[in-house]
Amino acid sequence: MKFDIVNFLKTKRTYRKFKQIPVPGDALQAIMLAGQLYSCGANKQSIKYVIVNKPEDVYVVNGLVKWAAYLPKEVGTPAKGETPVMYIAVIQDTDIEPVNDTSAGLAIGNMQSTAWYFGIGSCIMGAIDRPKLKSFLKIPQKMKLHSMIAFGYPMIESEPVECDGDVKYYINEKGGYSVPKRPIDEIYRFL
Ligand SMILES: Cc1cc2nc3c(=O)[nH]c(=O)nc-3n(C[C@H](O)[C@H](O)[C@H](O)COP(=O)(O)O)c2cc1C
Repeated sequence: MKFDIVNFLKTKRTYRKFKQIPVPGDALQAIMLAGQLYSCGANKQSIKYVIVNKPEDVYVVNGLVKWAAYLPKEVGTPAKGETPVMYIAVIQDTDIEPVNDTSAGLAIGNMQSTAWYFGIGSCIMGAIDRPKLKSFLKIPQKMKLHSMIAFGYPMIESEPVECDGDVKYYINEKGGYSVPKRPIDEIYRFL
């Protein structure tokens, strides 16, 4: 059957509530490959990772990240039984090159897409307690913790909707996320 890239892209959204099912080994292997094979300037490969998938470690990380700034905590933050089952810390190794956010973004995008191919949703977490996470994850002081990526099988759906000027995502009547995206003809033009 032909791969439905449009549906893949529309459903490859940010997810914040997860079933308590571990990421299977084959999916984790593929996600790790994706974090190795991203494109980067001069093939420097300055991005490193820490995988956090033991429940007791995930529990600690849960307390050091902030969810869904546009939503009240009781709606946007995963409750007990809805939290991610895995995080991957994305680290910029400044011994290899100065901080390169393009590399980090491409690596993260690769991992998120690969996870979604397996039906595993994710959330990039930039609002994080970096000092405490760096200490917990034993990341050397000179390296930069770019973000934590949360993973798990989603409990609720998320869909892009046409943006009417307000970019704030919201919970829709089906209890899922609606994520406003600016219209194609607003963001592209042909020369
Ligand atoms: C660099 C970056 C940092 C983000 N940080 C957070 C965060 O700390 N907490 C959170 O709940 N979502 C975070 N997000 C997710 C965004 O809110 C989400 O990508 C955005 O609302 C668009 O939704 P979509 O990914 O479904 O298109 C982050 C996304 C990016 C790209």
